[in-house]
Amino acid sequence: MKTAKILITRRILPAGLEILHQAGLEIDYHDSILPLGPAEIKKRLRHCQGLLSMVNDTIDRAIIDSAPDLKFIANHAVGLDNIDVNYAAKKNIKIGNTPRVLTQATAEIALLLIMTLLRNAHQLAQKVQSGKWQSWSPTLDLGRDVYGKKLGIIGMGQIGQRLAEICHHSFHMPISYYSPSGEKILAYAAKATSLEEILRTSDIVSLHCSYNQATHHLMNAKTLGLMQPSAILINTTRGGVIDQTALLDALNNKTLSAAGLDVTTPEPLAADSPLLGHQNLLIYPHIGSATIETRTKMSQMAATFLVNGLKS
Ligand code: DGY
Repeated sequence: MKTAKILITRRILPAGLEILHQAGLEIDYHDSILPLGPAEIKKRLRHCQGLLSMVNDTIDRAIIDSAPDLKFIANHAVGLDNIDVNYAAKKNIKIGNTPRVLTQATAEIALLLIMTLLRNAHQLAQKVQSGKWQSWSPTLDLGRDVYGKKLGIIGMGQIGQRLAEICHHSFHMPISYYSPSGEKILAYAAKATSLEEILRTSDIVSLHCSYNQATHHLMNAKTLGLMQPSAILINTTRGGVIDQTALLDALNNKTLSAAGLDVTTPEPLAADSPLLGHQNLLIYPHIGSATIETRTKMSQMAATFLVNGLKS
């Protein structure tokens, strides 16, 4: 039997690579931290049966059409918004992703953004770093308690639920949630409600819904306008859920106190983006799943999906 060939579009952690090598697959490995462009993916995928893709590879119709032998795509991510899944299904291509293993790490990043913003920790660390800290004083450097704040979760999937659990048990936060998908979760004393009510009443709004046509710019001038001026907005899902121009306006007009983003559009932002350097905007480089433990499991899960598929 002919050896199956796969393309891996980025450097991954060794545990996943090991599984693929052990399975005796022919591997075209782009051993780099930088993405392959679409033209290069098309060229290298032409004779492959498997693809191990990343969150920032766009696997659209044109790419799928360029690979007539493609049977399996393992996306090294939980989100699948970078893949034309309907077209792949039409072409009988099976798709795998890496759910569950990144739930805790991503919930931790949402919590880190919440805590950092409420305590102004990013600005205060910067003050010390730049030698501008003059003195300790009872009236200086005051943030806000995290404990007891009202948390509104948009998208109550695994990551939203984990954040709810942590914030309910450790910070006694009253939690309400809105599921664009209509999913109902009866846990952590979380109350299902409308998007509008969450935005009007929450101290913290955290976005965890998947990104699709229905959630594109869910947070726009109108919805951001419903939030309290003291509230903070957290996004660890996909940049496209927020209209970034409207977000910047809300921050500049002080109708929103601060925002913490682990994801933006595009990634990275252009060096001259007005979002960069804004006092009340904290931006991370898409690190929700970026721990050694989690990325190891993600590489193993993606690799195992390809091996099981291609060996069957
Ligand atoms: C995911 O899995 O969707 C993450 O955003 C990738 O780190």
